[in-house]
Amino acid sequence: METVLEIAPGVSLWRERLDRAAQRALLGEVLAQAAFYKPVMPGSGKPFSVEEFNFGPLGWYSDKSGYRYTSTDPRTAEAWPPIPPALIDLWKATTNHPAPPECCLVNLYRAGARMGLHQDRDEQAIDAPVLSVSLGDEALFRIGGTTRKGPTRSVKLGSGDVLTFGGPARLAFHGIDRVLSGTSTLVPGGGRINLTLRRVTA
Ligand code: SIN
Ligand code: MN
Repeated sequence: METVLEIAPGVSLWRERLDRAAQRALLGEVLAQAAFYKPVMPGSGKPFSVEEFNFGPLGWYSDKSGYRYTSTDPRTAEAWPPIPPALIDLWKATTNHPAPPECCLVNLYRAGARMGLHQDRDEQAIDAPVLSVSLGDEALFRIGGTTRKGPTRSVKLGSGDVLTFGGPARLAFHGIDRVLSGTSTLVPGGGRINLTLRRVTA
């Protein structure tokens, strides 16, 4: 029996939705193809503390000229690799959304990396939820409302946990306060990988 926790209206959490074998298989597929890059903030050029890569017809990319969705990796002009089938299945099983995801953003958190509170708002399809899969070290995830100032709550995400936020929470501010280094041995070299799936076009 699998249980889903309603963290807040529109925010659902499945603890260890992926068992260890599924986590290993997915991680293997991701690491075999991912060529991580260090995104920088548009304008300032300040580097993110995470490294990123994308799968899918559209990839979310940030460099000095801005953040945007691209159909190819701007470094190589090659298409991003297809989204791993296990993630498409997971999207179908957890989101109830009729259209497939178009972007799988991969975030790699090595020691000390974090992600400030932000909204995912570069997509037209805000009727589709955001699906997030955690692999490796535990992390403190924070999620609030649709204004930056409102109350937030913090939830620890562990390896294999699957979270969706949609409906009233689709534009919720969220981020990673910190990663608890050394809490998992899954990721070679240590750290955490987050896979975020989104529908982009309406
Ligand atoms: C993100 O919001 O892009 C990443 C969230 C996470 O790492 O869990
Ligand atoms: Mn996000």
